[in-house]
Amino acid sequence: MKASTQALAGAALLALLAGTAYAADPKVVKFYQDNCASCHGETGQGTAGLAPAFKGNKFIVSGSEAEIGDTIAKGRDASSKRYKELPSPMPALSMSDTRRKDLVAYLKTDLQK
Ligand code: HEC
Repeated sequence: MKASTQALAGAALLALLAGTAYAADPKVVKFYQDNCASCHGETGQGTAGLAPAFKGNKFIVSGSEAEIGDTIAKGRDASSKRYKELPSPMPALSMSDTRRKDLVAYLKTDLQK
């Protein structure tokens, strides 16, 4: 876990040097690794039978920041679930508005690479 967090932080630094629009704050990367990676995977690749991938995911690529942020804040359970084949709900996760915004930016940029 630690080595891959460092690898991700390194990737973020490289993206910053390359002048891409968004390079995640290492704190955001750590927050993702601590709170999301167990289900969605360390690089957003998803986990078969548990949670969807973010990479190449239309909702993540094209969805608005508000829509995606709302999904993270409220979670999805029972009838709000979109992946009926995955038995797990998406838990409602609370965090500051700034953190949630940064997290959505991270899903939309670094985790699409
Ligand atoms: C306990 C496992 C679990 C954890 C932890 C978790 N998720 Fe999820 N997440 C899911 C599942 C399952 C779904 C699919 C829900 C559904 O059926 O619509 C999902 C869906 C999502 C979606 C919508 C994807 C889509 O294609 O519609 C987003 C965005 C998301 N999660 C973000 C996050 C973020 C960001 C975190 C960490 C802050 C996180 N999730 C933590 C299980 C999890």
